[in-house]
Amino acid sequence: MKKLFLILLTIPTIAFANSGASNETALSASALHPKQLKWEFDNIFGRFDRASVQRGYQVYKEVCSACHGLKLVSYRNLGQIGFAEAEIKQIASEALVTDGPNDDGDMFERAGLVSDKFAGPYANEQAARSSNGGAYPPDLSLIVKARHDGANYVYSILAGFAEAPEGFEMAQGKQYNPYFEGRQIAMPQPLTDDGQVEYKDGTYATKEQMAIDVVNFLQWAAEPETEHRKKMGVRTMIFLGILLVILIAAKRAIWKQVK
Ligand code: HEC
Repeated sequence: MKKLFLILLTIPTIAFANSGASNETALSASALHPKQLKWEFDNIFGRFDRASVQRGYQVYKEVCSACHGLKLVSYRNLGQIGFAEAEIKQIASEALVTDGPNDDGDMFERAGLVSDKFAGPYANEQAARSSNGGAYPPDLSLIVKARHDGANYVYSILAGFAEAPEGFEMAQGKQYNPYFEGRQIAMPQPLTDDGQVEYKDGTYATKEQMAIDVVNFLQWAAEPETEHRKKMGVRTMIFLGILLVILIAAKRAIWKQVK
């Protein structure tokens, strides 16, 4: 009787264990959880690693901006991450911005100004899709906020390209990437070689370094107020701490006479 009970008890356990395992087979199409990295902006005193954010801008500009826009960021915002005004003017002036209409009612192109938003690579979504085999490279301004566990997600996508496991059915024009929904992505692997970007500060651009830097940059782009918010949070805690001490002292002083 006891044996029978034990057997009955193990059947569902085995069944569940198996169903869990089948989710994790190499041929599964559900995305893996992102790799977990330690980010400097993530603790309560969170500050951006300025140098990394600046290098990340360079990676965005030299690699990602060929396909992804950053339409919520203005050139002048680069001042917040330590670019000098002359540099920002130079960066903006290299962009071609569509403006208008002029007095004849026509749109025209001009060099960018610091007050412009980042110019995107495509005129519209259709143009973007037709250049990318039908897939749409989303604007990256808010990508870190728009995806669950965004910083780790973007890092994992960039670092996660791999050979498809044997037997995995790949659609045409897609790359295997277990961190993307469906485990295949229409983006060609953007960070392919160490040294692909030559950093101005002399840091050697390994693939991993470039991925970390561009995530730091995109985190700043999505949440430039992070530092201010965290600074206010810490100040508020200090203020509340002092207030607590004063209130305890006041309470003691007042109740002393009652005893
Ligand atoms: C040659 C064009 C191209 C380049 C260069 C490129 N991407 Fe992409 N990217 C795409 C396309 C197309 C997609 C959409 C993929 C899909 O839907 O399958 C995409 C998707 C993504 C996604 C996933 C978005 C989502 O919806 O979750 C991220 C994150 C991303 N790209 C980041 C980057 C970063 C960061 C860089 C620079 C290091 C970069 N990409 C460079 C074309 C590109």
